Amino acid sequence: MIETPDAIILGAGAAGLMCAAQAGQRGRRVLVIEGADRPGKKILISGGGRCNFTNLHVAPDRYLSANPHFAKSALSRYTPDDFLALVGAYGIAWHEKTLGQLFCDGSARQIVDMLLDEVTKGGGNVACGHTITSVSHADGLFRVTTDSTTFAAPALVIATGGPSIPKMGASGFAYDLARQFGLKVVEPRPALVPLTLSGDDALFRDLSGVATEVNARAGKACFREAALFTHRGLSGPAILQISSYWRKGDAIGIDFLPDRAPGWLVATKAASPRATLRSVLKEALPDRLANTLADKLGLDGILAGQTDACLRDLERQLADWRFIPNGSEGFAKAEVTVGGISTAELSSKTMEAKRVPGLYVVGEAVDVTGWLGGYNFQWAWASGWAAAQSI
Ligand code: FDA
Repeated sequence: MIETPDAIILGAGAAGLMCAAQAGQRGRRVLVIEGADRPGKKILISGGGRCNFTNLHVAPDRYLSANPHFAKSALSRYTPDDFLALVGAYGIAWHEKTLGQLFCDGSARQIVDMLLDEVTKGGGNVACGHTITSVSHADGLFRVTTDSTTFAAPALVIATGGPSIPKMGASGFAYDLARQFGLKVVEPRPALVPLTLSGDDALFRDLSGVATEVNARAGKACFREAALFTHRGLSGPAILQISSYWRKGDAIGIDFLPDRAPGWLVATKAASPRATLRSVLKEALPDRLANTLADKLGLDGILAGQTDACLRDLERQLADWRFIPNGSEGFAKAEVTVGGISTAELSSKTMEAKRVPGLYVVGEAVDVTGWLGGYNFQWAWASGWAAAQSI
């Protein structure tokens, strides 16, 4: 164990391990203190056990933050290609699943092992199973007291992530620490999370298990991916993505037939006047969903019996079906957290706190949240790397 480290990194997750590896390889003596019994637990369960470790289409506009420019510097200096080069050097096989999402062919364990190997190469130590009881700062040193000892170093990196999935030990520890040092925190809320339905919309819960490709919208954000009905409401990649933009009380709009151009139902009436709306919907959508939509629209007659204006109105409803979720499944099911330690407090180049020299914040603890699909790990790698260049 390093007794007098140059930097103490709190949290052996994605960002903390990357930071430790890079800083160590730059000649810094680093000690990582981890509360869990082993490092990288979220990496291990990520991407269904195969870790969607980056995305080929990483760009700053695919991240949410109170300051949309903040992530640019780190993301441009440590890119998906840089991480791929590392993965390649370890001979880890990977594949693109969809939409630029890169996964291990084998297991997420390979990514954790690679990061730990990189930490070891830099001479760093990872100490697991430590409960941190206090952190203080005096005389140019940060002192971290755990249940067994006190460590001190001139630099401290907060890499303890966000509060999503508390049953894995995730908590608001990073925010408490930030507040202790006088840093502002942007109200955290669950993101990449299933949404719940009640009232009239609850009827859709009978469709639990039905999935279809949609356009999901909230405000200006729109995602074309699969939506899945669940026994509590809505999930699937399109909904997880839109959940990051959704605010309580807002409606989300679903286009159930994203490939149909305006006027399609009128054209269908001309081509097949005796078809029913139900039969037409069944050609495009899963049967159970088609039936529910047809029931809700209350139309059972043939298309020929409807005016063009009425059909255009139906088209509009199917293209922008409004759900008003009554909430989300919360941090218990959220993949990430929107909000976090304010970027206004940090240098975008080094991730160092402007008002507390020597204090750094990296990864999910920062108010930077990526889309679904490897974007969040890329932020963890890039922000961890950026801090490592400075400590
Ligand atoms: P991370 O959570 O990885 O690490 C924080 C570390 O700090 C943990 O090891 C934790 O135990 C430790 N810690 C917390 N409190 C502490 C304390 N008080 N004392 C000491 N240690 C403490 N992203 C992606 O890009 N692709 C994907 O495939 C997935 N898949 C995925 C699946 C699931 C189920 C979840 C929940 C999340 C994902 N993510 C994802 C998101 C991704 O896991 C997340 O964005 C990164 O792990 C964030 O990296 P950090 O290092 O910031 O936090």
